Amino acid sequence: MTDIFSTKIYEAHMSEFEDVKQPTIEQVLKLFGHEENFYVMLGSSKTSYNQVNGKLHNHIDITEICKFVEKHAKIYWDELEYDPAQFPVIKSSWANICPNGGSLSSHNHAPFPISGAFYLNADESMGNLIFEHPLDQLMSHQPFTKDNVKRTYKKIVSTGTLFLFPGYLNHYVEKNFTDKVRLTIGFDIGV
Ligand SMILES: [Fe+2]
Repeated sequence: MTDIFSTKIYEAHMSEFEDVKQPTIEQVLKLFGHEENFYVMLGSSKTSYNQVNGKLHNHIDITEICKFVEKHAKIYWDELEYDPAQFPVIKSSWANICPNGGSLSSHNHAPFPISGAFYLNADESMGNLIFEHPLDQLMSHQPFTKDNVKRTYKKIVSTGTLFLFPGYLNHYVEKNFTDKVRLTIGFDIGV
């Protein structure tokens, strides 16, 4: 038996995030709280994607987080065996605020080679990140029983953690069951 065509996702924890956590969260909340032009509602969540033109890093200081993301994006890029002559950089960044009851439905970030989520404030009861099998639609015709094939993969989220994944990979976010807001920064990475 040969198991072929695996999907690699990447996880890293930023141990020095504690040093920048408070000022970063304050800046994000300020951006969303006082400048209504900087977000749109996405269900019950707020996202700044279009409003910052995908350039959150031009509006607030997230330098250390961006450095961390790009460092790990390069490691992941090589692990994925993408073209070693090209160097991945952040192409867009945006912030998301998800309050109690908020979630995010299935989507992907194609055609970006890599996308990522960095968690400014999160724990496992505030909405975990669920990846869908890349062949999910096709596999729905196969005679699996419910239990014998993994069509989704759950990553438990936590503050200071970064997940990187191929831009083509569908994913969604579970509901936030707490009264705290889940705060994330999204990244699209390319060359
Ligand atoms: Fe996403």
